[in-house]
Amino acid sequence: MQKKIVLSGSRPTGNIHLGNYFGAIENWVSLQDEYECNFFIADWHALTTGYADTQDLKKNTISLMADFLASGLDPKKSTLFLQSEVKQHAELYLILSMNTPLSWLERCPTYKDQLANLKDRDITTYGFLGYPALQAADILIYRADFVPVGEDQIPHLEITREMARRFNFIYNKEVFPEPLPLLTKAKVLPGTDGRKMSKSYGNTIAFADTPDEVKKKVMSMITDPARIRKDDPGHPEICTVFAFHKVFNEQMVPEIEEQCRGGCIGCVACKRLLQEKIAVFHTPIHEKRQELLRDEKYLTDIIRDGSHRASVKAEATMELVRNAVQIGL
Ligand code: TRP
Ligand code: SF4
Repeated sequence: MQKKIVLSGSRPTGNIHLGNYFGAIENWVSLQDEYECNFFIADWHALTTGYADTQDLKKNTISLMADFLASGLDPKKSTLFLQSEVKQHAELYLILSMNTPLSWLERCPTYKDQLANLKDRDITTYGFLGYPALQAADILIYRADFVPVGEDQIPHLEITREMARRFNFIYNKEVFPEPLPLLTKAKVLPGTDGRKMSKSYGNTIAFADTPDEVKKKVMSMITDPARIRKDDPGHPEICTVFAFHKVFNEQMVPEIEEQCRGGCIGCVACKRLLQEKIAVFHTPIHEKRQELLRDEKYLTDIIRDGSHRASVKAEATMELVRNAVQIGL
């Protein structure tokens, strides 16, 4: 039986952190056997908001591939590629842009949101407005059945489905299936300060961090402020360290909860327990990533090879698209 097709992407805007891993990548890794998976580095997407600061783009692309591989994405199972190396994405984006009503783009919640919030950059551009069309092209060009995304990406996927429907209707051909979101309940991991883990808050734990840096970050995490002395009763439900125990130390959670509430364990000891558990998970991935980064040629070869395989699939769809539109010779 033909495997269903999955596609998802990530922008090369910095190092993968535990929030990214548990929010998306862990799930991608688990889909690799059951689906025909395509995972890509969305470098053209990075330009939609970051067109003026591109100095780290190549470096971030290479290190994102190292993070992908160290996290368990496997180029033998999945097609791992770079968006800008598969030019057909741009061709489909152009064709879709011709029949995308402006109102669909203007009412997109992330568009309105970022326009209001990214005050330090001028994103009143054509490319930023059009980025849902670029994302639709990314998905439709592989005729994907499923797109593993977070809740925040649902509106984009809805626009993609509308674009597929509209294209099929206008040209009276079933070229594109309508992709569905693949929502899995991702583990929620706060940042080290209790807010959402995000590079812009400076509260991340990244695979790029050394084991020593990770240890320092864990030992300085925010805990229950009511606990001054060890025998003060604690409130684990508001404690960042406890939220991490739920992900990294599931077995001990009931015990830690009881001891914290009863004032029988100190926060330093509790953090130490956590730090050991995080290290068991983090150190091997960190080391794998560093080892991969020592051989840049290997990483660029993986990217080239994956992009070549992606181009073959994308070109097959583009032939259907060009025929439907009756463009070209
Ligand atoms: N927009 C996504 C992000 O900013 C990345 C992305 C680009 C993507 N194209 C995609 C995700 C297609 C899923 C499917 O993270
Ligand atoms: Fe948090 Fe642990 Fe301190 Fe309780 S004992 S407040 S769970 S760090």
